[in-house]
Amino acid sequence: MDPGDIAIRTVMHPKDTNPMGTVFGGVILAQLDMAGAVEARKHTSRRLVTKAMHEVDFVAPVHLGDTVTFFTRTLRKGRTSVTVEVEVDAQRTGPRGKRESVHVTSATVVYVAVDENGNPTPLDPA
Ligand SMILES: CC(C)(COP(=O)(O)OP(=O)(O)OC[C@H]1O[C@@H](n2cnc3c(N)ncnc32)[C@H](O)[C@@H]1OP(=O)(O)O)[C@@H](O)C(=O)NCCC(=O)NCCS
Repeated sequence: MDPGDIAIRTVMHPKDTNPMGTVFGGVILAQLDMAGAVEARKHTSRRLVTKAMHEVDFVAPVHLGDTVTFFTRTLRKGRTSVTVEVEVDAQRTGPRGKRESVHVTSATVVYVAVDENGNPTPLDPA
């Protein structure tokens, strides 16, 4: 399946990790939200808020120094909402000096366009 567009690619630093040297889930969640918003932004110039994040299951750890890539695809464009699939992979140099890519998590994120009062509004201006 097409992995989608690269919305964010970033390197993990000491500030992102716990004393074990693995990255806090919240760091990945924040970037995941940001990456999904980059994708949703393609569909509207309205202000967007994050409405829901479905099923974030971390299947492998991210380590200090890993390059983390956030791939995005639009799943659905509704009346006021955009649903985005975000896939997160970590790239690192493995034990034999070979670059490897590990699937970390994926999630479906829903963004809603809101007006100046914070109420849902159509994605496309009338
Ligand atoms: C976003 C907000 C305005 C939406 O209000 P709401 O009452 O749920 O709005 P609606 O019921 O009209 O739904 C709006 C759209 O979201 C979709 N939606 C609502 N809840 C959803 C959910 N849990 N999962 C998927 N889609 C959802 C609806 O299907 C609708 O989509 P469509 O118009 O494209 O068909 C309101 O919930 C809000 O302000 N939430 C806080 C957002 C925020 O601050 N996020 C950051 C948290 S720190």
